[in-house]
Amino acid sequence: MAEARPDDVIRIDAGGWGLSWAPSADGPLHQVGLGPAGAAATRDVDAHWYPRAFPTLDGTDPFRPPALQVIHADGTLSTRLVLDDVDRSDAADGSGEHVVLTTVDELFDLTVEHHLLTHPDSGVLEQWVEVVHAEDGPVTLLSYDSIAPFLMVPDDAEYVQFGGAGWADEWRWSTGRPAIGTTVLGSLGGVQPHLQRSPCLLLSPTGPFDVDAGGAPVQDRGEVIGLSVAWGGNSHVSLDLRPRAEPGAPGELRVRSGAHALGAPYRLDPGTRMVLPTVAWVWSSAGRDGVTEAFHRWSRARVLRDADRRRPLVVNNWEATYFDFDEHRIVGLIDRAAELGADVFLLDDGWFGTTRPRDDDTQGLGDWDVDRRKLPGGLGPLTDATAERGIRFGIWVEPEMVNPLSDLYDDHPEWVARDVREPREHRQQLYLDPLRPEVRDFEVDVVGRTLRSAPGTSYVKWDANRPVTDPGSATLPADRQANVWFDQVGATWDVMARVAAAHPDMELMLCASGGGRVDHGSLRWFHEFWTSDNTDPVARVRMQWACSHFFPAAVMAAHVTRWGERPMAFASAVALSGRFGIDVDLESTTRAEDDVLRRAVEWAQRTQDVVQQGTVRRYVSPVDGADRSRAAFSVTLGDRTVVFAYQLEASTSTPPVIRLRGLPRADTYRVRTTDLHGPAEETTSVAGELDRGIEWPLDRPLSARLWEIEPTRQTA
Ligand code: GLA
Repeated sequence: MAEARPDDVIRIDAGGWGLSWAPSADGPLHQVGLGPAGAAATRDVDAHWYPRAFPTLDGTDPFRPPALQVIHADGTLSTRLVLDDVDRSDAADGSGEHVVLTTVDELFDLTVEHHLLTHPDSGVLEQWVEVVHAEDGPVTLLSYDSIAPFLMVPDDAEYVQFGGAGWADEWRWSTGRPAIGTTVLGSLGGVQPHLQRSPCLLLSPTGPFDVDAGGAPVQDRGEVIGLSVAWGGNSHVSLDLRPRAEPGAPGELRVRSGAHALGAPYRLDPGTRMVLPTVAWVWSSAGRDGVTEAFHRWSRARVLRDADRRRPLVVNNWEATYFDFDEHRIVGLIDRAAELGADVFLLDDGWFGTTRPRDDDTQGLGDWDVDRRKLPGGLGPLTDATAERGIRFGIWVEPEMVNPLSDLYDDHPEWVARDVREPREHRQQLYLDPLRPEVRDFEVDVVGRTLRSAPGTSYVKWDANRPVTDPGSATLPADRQANVWFDQVGATWDVMARVAAAHPDMELMLCASGGGRVDHGSLRWFHEFWTSDNTDPVARVRMQWACSHFFPAAVMAAHVTRWGERPMAFASAVALSGRFGIDVDLESTTRAEDDVLRRAVEWAQRTQDVVQQGTVRRYVSPVDGADRSRAAFSVTLGDRTVVFAYQLEASTSTPPVIRLRGLPRADTYRVRTTDLHGPAEETTSVAGELDRGIEWPLDRPLSARLWEIEPTRQTA
């Protein structure tokens, strides 16, 4: 055994947890520590006794998939990376430390850099890999992960993935135990991969997620890893589990994550740098609430545009009218939106198309001129109507797509992304190839020309309503067609970045048939996302519960609709816990419904700053445990706390007591309570009362209770 070199351990302190890597005497990097004490790890034997930090195909573990697999220019299949350089610097944005570990192949001129960027304020670690080489010709990357941590886990370790049936089933909470072998939690489809699976994972590495004496999930205790792949394309988290021969001994779990390389071997030219997706991850010792707080803080600090700006109250016409409207109808809705107190009126799909008007989703997409039959005066009268009523105008676009029945397709059939077969239609539309520079210019200009025809517009909803079904690009040579999966993301991000830069004051909503593109990478150019087309409040409570582990409510658009025909008060109470908006036909509501909406808007105006910016604490889970009929959580910002309780279905367990956490100490609190059926009732609560907890107040399915709590007299 080579002599130990204790001072060559590279320690990454991520803030409350960390990891340590060290090179073995012969060069490759090994993982010496990971977890709460991971940055304090020492070693007293050579590092080669520890697991590889980032396994490549080098013969040391031929039985498990490597994180990086390369066919070198001369056809060699193995890669053996050794540490060449360690560079530590303060991060450019002042957030923490940027550590770059440069490794090189022993034989080939191939460099693999590991980038680790710490954020001590949140505890989130950003980690990614960059690959560059100077071999004699292109190399082919068969797999290219960004992280590959190694853990010893008991049999009953658990994870939560968010994979569902596709459209309208985003963020389905699904708990599992790592199975022996490789479990790939991947998403495909290229353009709207997150409709099937969010690129996020929760993992309880020390056993099952914590539960209380009654078996209900505990939110603020336990070791939980949260992980998010910041990638707007196919991504994966793969769990490679190998048991030990000794009964009961912990198994070896390798978590690999990054862009999904399935069907996407990447041909990389000499001198071209391939920057792999960032995986943002955190190891919380405060359970899932700890993961939530970390991701919210990090998202605000590093991802969100205008993070401190309160998001507007949006009234959308989509579910009210679909494609069937005219100027009179829209002005009527604008009137009602303004009367109610909306900040933005958003005109959805259906406003464009001249030779092939967009009366349904079969035609017109790509032709971004106003349909003068529906809107004879163009968009001007609508922007005027909003301006006159003191609200903002927003508009829907889908720049990346085209209906074959359109002038755009007649003029540029060659712009469509395809292979040699006839491209397949999906929602009667085709996908424009973003690898073509002229397509990217066109897409940037879709937003520009729309804004020119609707001056004063300050909000845009950007949609993308089909996956990639015919991967390929005429811009790529035959041996690089599969690069399209990876390169499309960068090309699309280029378009999004240009749009964001050209219109810095315009707010942008990201939508892809709902939450098909909800990731921390794409979100950098947007202010919020459309969480799901599924707005049934019962489904939404569960989706938003899951989604809010990774994304703050400020970006999680939630609108009151008639989906599921639920009571308006319940639907409103659910939307109030996200970025609140309304998408019902405001011209056909009853007086009683109007009263509910008015109260909801007032409540939003009083509380959305807390909801959007505050710290979330969860009490009653609607997605795990034996009884999933209820949900309760609170959000605290400074002195102010709001609490949400929902009864979704009939319960099978005794009603819980909500023991609030995070309230400032005070002698008395002012408590306002409402279910939106009537005005909020104001009471005073003295110190101690709230500590004993709030008795569960609901017994009827589809009911909700909202509280606003604030100290009236501080404890000296
Ligand atoms: C997608 C979006 C919807 C709506 C329609 C318009 O389905 O998710 O919100 O904008 O497109 O066609």
